[in-house]
Amino acid sequence: QRGNWVNIDGGLQFSQLGTASQIGVAIAAFFTITVVLNVLQQVLFKNPNEPPLVFHWFPVIGSTITYGMDPPRFFKENREKYGECFTFILLGKKTTVYVGTQGNEFILNGKIRDVCAEEIYTVLTTPVFGKDVVYDCPNSKLMEQKKFMKVALTTEAFRQYVPIISDEVLSYFKRSPDFKGKSGTVNISPKMAQITIFTASHALQGKEIRDQFDESLADLYHDLDMGFSPVNFMLHWAPLPWNKRRDHAQRTVAKIYMDTIKRRRERGETGAQDIMWHLMNSEYKGGVKVPDHEIAHMMIALLMAGQHSSSSTSSWIMLRLASRPDIMEELYQEQVDALGADLPELTYEDLAKLPLNQAIVKETLRLHAPIHSIMRAVKQPMPVPGTKLVIPTSHVLLAAPGVSATDPHYFPNPELWDPHRWEKDSPNAPAISRSTAEDEDMIDYGYGLVSKGASSPYLPFGAGRHRCIGEQFANVQLQTIVAMTVRLFKFRNVDGSNKVIGTDYASLFSRPLEPAVIAWERRDSN
Ligand code: HEM
Repeated sequence: QRGNWVNIDGGLQFSQLGTASQIGVAIAAFFTITVVLNVLQQVLFKNPNEPPLVFHWFPVIGSTITYGMDPPRFFKENREKYGECFTFILLGKKTTVYVGTQGNEFILNGKIRDVCAEEIYTVLTTPVFGKDVVYDCPNSKLMEQKKFMKVALTTEAFRQYVPIISDEVLSYFKRSPDFKGKSGTVNISPKMAQITIFTASHALQGKEIRDQFDESLADLYHDLDMGFSPVNFMLHWAPLPWNKRRDHAQRTVAKIYMDTIKRRRERGETGAQDIMWHLMNSEYKGGVKVPDHEIAHMMIALLMAGQHSSSSTSSWIMLRLASRPDIMEELYQEQVDALGADLPELTYEDLAKLPLNQAIVKETLRLHAPIHSIMRAVKQPMPVPGTKLVIPTSHVLLAAPGVSATDPHYFPNPELWDPHRWEKDSPNAPAISRSTAEDEDMIDYGYGLVSKGASSPYLPFGAGRHRCIGEQFANVQLQTIVAMTVRLFKFRNVDGSNKVIGTDYASLFSRPLEPAVIAWERRDSN
């Protein structure tokens, strides 16, 4: 009988158990009491001035697991139960989700005195980007930095980028062993990640930096990337192997950029269009030149900010095209009709002549926006307009614009990937009123006029002071990659079905699960 838990009347007493069993029983009792107290607290002590709390059994863990497995599903299910504004426990932290267009507005256009992004993100981003940029500086400095970077992303620059990106795509498919021959199968996501980094680094950072991606830079960026794993929200400081590699990579990459800056200055270069050059000639308010280490750190930030989102999006596009070979054919025909059967070298102006090519990117971002959760610290109690709710400073706010982007109220058949819905007369055309879509107020947060934009249900690039500055570049890059790929290949699913693989939410930016294998065939194979 020793070691078994029998009630006191049954004979065996707690004191008669072995030490190990006693510890086991004590732990079990502790957990039971904690769970019971946690449940009682939720049932008995509801604060009517705070959003409803998502029911959970275990304190600290709360809803971390259900949220982490599938954030969009978590948001939708809980919106049905609790309404558009609710709180859940994420790793011990009360996290208030506010979905829908009002939620997007409340969080993304929150006042600087109310909400703060850097407090949340800095632990992850500063070791990867480096000091004194983005979230390692006051917000007013970030706004100036965004202005420097945005000013470099001009129509003139985009005109230069399209041929650079087209050539990179052609040369990639020519030399890649995975695309040798007339047809084959390939796990597409790693290929799109490579195409994204080659095209972005060449266009944004110049040939000198691009060439180094064939050698050391790719591995170094991979090590930097490991710093972005979600576990680093808690373990960013720990002397773990991946953090040591991250720190070494950060120092090495920053030095490569700083040496390049020095060489360019010594050469007395003039008239370049790339972002590094622009930053080398920018000044903060008050006439302070941007220091070299900040230029280097901004270069890392720019490439990292774009890499995950653009590479995930281009992978989703290719997977969607493989599931709909008919649409891939329409895209090819669109180019033949608009540009001529000989398909001349693609230009920036040509992209505007290809509405379906544009809609492919737009529709893919509607269903597969890579950033599913946008977080802010709460700096002072925030009353939620039109309700009696007040979000206290102990909460973190979470915006999820993907929820309104898949709401049937705005997008008929929301789960259907239908690029044609962006055509005016489509039965699935979005029900977005002109006033929300186009006549939006404009505002300048310090990096140029942007539409306030948060009342639109479609915000894959965010809104407000932290809105993406890379939207136009990403569109140019993605549309060029798609147009060039369509010229070369026909894609389909290996089993010929129109199924699409599920989403991997385990990393910070969501992306297709791997391996995501598709079948390809060269157009010129006959
Ligand atoms: C911010 C999405 C590509 C640079 C953001 C935000 C979103 C976003 C949602 C707002 C984050 C927040 O409010 O916390 C995307 C998507 C992309 C993309 C979906 C591609 C499909 C790029 C590219 C660049 C870039 C290519 C660089 C050239 C930035 C920067 C910010 C930002 C600098 C500002 C962060 C801040 O102010 O806090 N992006 N992005 N992004 N993005 Fe992008």
